[in-house]
Amino acid sequence: MRLTVVGAGYVGLVSACCLAEMGNQVCLLEHNPARLQALQQGRVPIYEPGLEALLQQVLNRQLQVTGNVSLALNEPELILVAVGTPSQADGNVDLSQLWQLAEAVQEHLRHPTVLVLKSTVAVGTGDALQAWFEQRAIPVQVVNNPEFLKEGAALEDFRRPQRILIGAEDAAAAAIVERLYVPFTRNQARVLHMRRREAEFSKYAANAFLASRISFMNELAELAEHVQVDIEAVRQGIGSDQRIGRHFIYAGCGYGGSCFPKDLRALSHLGRSQGLPLPLLSAIEQRNERQKQRLIDKLEALLGSHWYGKRVALWGLAFKPDTDDIREAPALVLLRALLARGATVQAHDPAAMPAVAERFPEAVASGQLQLCNEPYAALENAHALCLLTEWKLFREPDWLRVMQLLAEPRVLDGRNQYDPGQLATMGFVYLGIGRGG
Ligand code: UGA
Repeated sequence: MRLTVVGAGYVGLVSACCLAEMGNQVCLLEHNPARLQALQQGRVPIYEPGLEALLQQVLNRQLQVTGNVSLALNEPELILVAVGTPSQADGNVDLSQLWQLAEAVQEHLRHPTVLVLKSTVAVGTGDALQAWFEQRAIPVQVVNNPEFLKEGAALEDFRRPQRILIGAEDAAAAAIVERLYVPFTRNQARVLHMRRREAEFSKYAANAFLASRISFMNELAELAEHVQVDIEAVRQGIGSDQRIGRHFIYAGCGYGGSCFPKDLRALSHLGRSQGLPLPLLSAIEQRNERQKQRLIDKLEALLGSHWYGKRVALWGLAFKPDTDDIREAPALVLLRALLARGATVQAHDPAAMPAVAERFPEAVASGQLQLCNEPYAALENAHALCLLTEWKLFREPDWLRVMQLLAEPRVLDGRNQYDPGQLATMGFVYLGIGRGG
């Protein structure tokens, strides 16, 4: 098929590359000049395993990357919309980029097309957009097709989706979108047809549900600490029930990233706009905030409350492994507190250090925040080690070396990666999340 993907952010870039890989002729439209130039040279401006190699494989063959709006919107059979839909102050999503695109489509489109919304949009957006095109007699059918890919596993998620949601009021438009996914759905994925607003709602529901599982476990983890229970045993105990399942029940330092926090806020906003209080959603968010703050409480338990002149090692800064994304990362909450209280921070993250350097330029310039090239360099003379992102690199450290390098053998394990018994035997003071056993 001949299609245009609008927006070379996470979703747009991954979708464009994977669809090009399957033999479609894909035009990727990006307006940011720096990003555009990088992509045209085969460089991916985000960290995603395998993505750069795939871009280079398809670039200037099945994939063209362009900033030329009229070329991109002239006559595609299908337009995939992956523009940013950030949060506004009140939690509602900012759809201004989407409406700008609608105006551009009005100006440049020469043939009937299907406009597929992959960006996460407020419930009812697709209907409003459809009405807008109809009022102007522009031959566009709007379909909602939410994206469920995870950062760090995006290619795998796109190539082998568990389900494809197609939200459409028009059967012919739905069939065109379904055809696009045939190469990806042959083996296992289910294609589910529904109305536009149901697909929009499902995207929010999925993320809110996953976030609720995490907050639930984080809440129980705190309780577990009071009653001498190890939440890791409980996780295994409940995860083996197929109705519950093993995924997304890991207690930790709270969820971050660009999706869960934003989508929870948007869903709560939708409730408020309908005059409906949604206390369960608020509780999920509150628990998550508390969970991030608990890192500070725990470090106080290890170090005392005076951190001035202390040296603290952080392993991991990204909101999760296999990404350089630090948006709403729990690590930032602890990092800010450490800097504000006069501690020196020695940190290592395999991918997120450039983003952190950009966010905290003064602390880096003054030397209060030292970004170290490898994990062990961050430990030298530190009064505690805090594991904040469970990169594989940190999974099995050489504990004797850790012991030798640290000034004090203290470990705050924000992701429950380590064996408390083993560390205690070696002489470490260990604190995890919910490890009251
Ligand atoms: C999430 C969803 O998982 C994707 O399906 C969805 O497409 C995406 O949002 C989106 O809306 O675009 P992502 O934000 O990349 O993907 O990351 P996740 O792997 O879901 O992790 C989110 C956060 O939850 C991370 O901070 C992670 O550390 C935390 N988490 C996850 C836990 O604390 N415990 C768990 O058991 C699982």
